Amino acid sequence: MKRIAVLASGRGSNFQAVIDAVGRGEVPAVCSALITDNPRAYAIDRAEKAGIPVFIVDYDASASKEEYEQALSEVMRAVAADGYILAGYMRILGTGIVREFRGRIINIHPALLPAFPGLHAQRQALACGVKVAGCTVHFVDEGMDSGPIIVQACVRVRQGDTEEMLAARILESEHRCLPAAIRLFCEDRLRIEGRLVRILPRTGESGSTNRA
Ligand code: GAR
Repeated sequence: MKRIAVLASGRGSNFQAVIDAVGRGEVPAVCSALITDNPRAYAIDRAEKAGIPVFIVDYDASASKEEYEQALSEVMRAVAADGYILAGYMRILGTGIVREFRGRIINIHPALLPAFPGLHAQRQALACGVKVAGCTVHFVDEGMDSGPIIVQACVRVRQGDTEEMLAARILESEHRCLPAAIRLFCEDRLRIEGRLVRILPRTGESGSTNRA
């Protein structure tokens, strides 16, 4: 059974989706830690309810970004997870951490990457007038939301959508895609080949695609 640690900065609804999927036996993993940069994150309440140990590395209380990254990497090493899941973790990981844990850090982003990386992805999508939005789960590399893509799902943009309306529908699909991607990771079925993530079939299956 794999060990996963979740990094979250706020509300933690994706973290909850992971907790629930693990609880239903859909993801062969133990969720062994919540790591947060924000001592007021609601994700902490969710972890406590689920009996998951919480590690707070308070960004605002750190003297510098370097000190924060140093403390964060120590916690990541100490929890000794197989995979680190960024579920609404709203900071860019330093290159030292990305290199040390390469291929083991997974992020969810509320857009069809490579379109609309960074903050306010749903607002960016509406401003561009796209007809289809969505979410992406990907491995983290040194860039911003630029690593190899594991799973994506489309969400239709409706006329009259506000940012909140679109974000809410994308979030529903995030809650399906993130556990699906973690499951593939925990089943050792992901192979990173350059920019491509190949999904290995389950024994007895002939092939698979990158769609949840
Ligand atoms: C989610 O929509 C997630 O995709 C996004 O923040 C939200 C967190 O919600 N993450 C990013 O934009 C990272 N670039 P949650 O705390 O309820 O899971």
